[in-house]
Amino acid sequence: MGATYPQVITVTSGKGGVGKTNIAANLACALAQTGKVILLDADLGLANVDVLLGVQPAMDLFTIFEEGAGISDILFPTPYGFSILPTSSGIETMAELSTGQKLELLNAMDAIAEGLDYLIVDTGAGISDSVLYFCMAAQQRLLVLNPEPTSLADAYALIKVLKTRHGIDQFKICINMARDPSSAKESFVRLLEACDQFLDGVSLDLAGVVPFDPDVRRAVMQQKPFLSKYPDCPASKALLQMAGQIPRWQATAQDDGNIKFFWKSLLYR
Ligand SMILES: Nc1ncnc2c1ncn2[C@@H]1O[C@H](COP(=O)(O)OP(=O)(O)O)[C@@H](O)[C@H]1O
Ligand SMILES: [Mg+2]
Repeated sequence: MGATYPQVITVTSGKGGVGKTNIAANLACALAQTGKVILLDADLGLANVDVLLGVQPAMDLFTIFEEGAGISDILFPTPYGFSILPTSSGIETMAELSTGQKLELLNAMDAIAEGLDYLIVDTGAGISDSVLYFCMAAQQRLLVLNPEPTSLADAYALIKVLKTRHGIDQFKICINMARDPSSAKESFVRLLEACDQFLDGVSLDLAGVVPFDPDVRRAVMQQKPFLSKYPDCPASKALLQMAGQIPRWQATAQDDGNIKFFWKSLLYR
């Protein structure tokens, strides 16, 4: 058994503020302990990852079209073992690139795929086109939600759009900010039942339950991943457990390579 590397994992949610960026950044941190990881900041309106981690990348993906800039200038190393690939503008911009620029971008992305194990994509929330495209381009979608009715309803709405309009039927679920394990499981079951009842053939896997933990907020205030700042806190333990399962996730492999498929999907819509 074994996954086909690199794997592209989109971290997304129906609703904002559920902890996507925290989960994505700390997952990157956890997976970087054993592999090569890049975190793509794709929440376009809001500069998220850089604020959360207290880093200030000077360049972004589109800088590669400027004279003399190479992909190694753009990948921003963090002290946590993974690099950030910043994007200031969205996939709208990507679609408008010239044929030559698209090829240049694909070649650059090919170069970063060398030896890469995971590309983690932190997206915005909701059912905007950009979120949907990132979900469609990735091999895995990790949907983050909180155990509250609004979050559940918005997660269901996102699953419904991805399934009915785009045929995507496999989702990994992370329940974050859980006050207790049983209510978290209950939320998952409710989502599962809604999907079973109204959507045909959607499969949901509970990837992990991350508890509500004051140390997460503390780490955010210090602009550090909670995993590095408070490695023994309950949230860190839960996150490590979830990350430990990821190598066993069954993933589809694209003929062209997963990274190429990802970028092609975004560039040639
Ligand atoms: N497990 C948790 N326990 C406590 N607070 C959390 C937890 N996860 C996230 N938070 C808090 O929720 C807020 C939003 O998190 P963030 O990752 O920015 O969400 P999103 O990217 O979904 O908008 C942050 O201020 C963070 O401190
Ligand atoms: Mg965010």
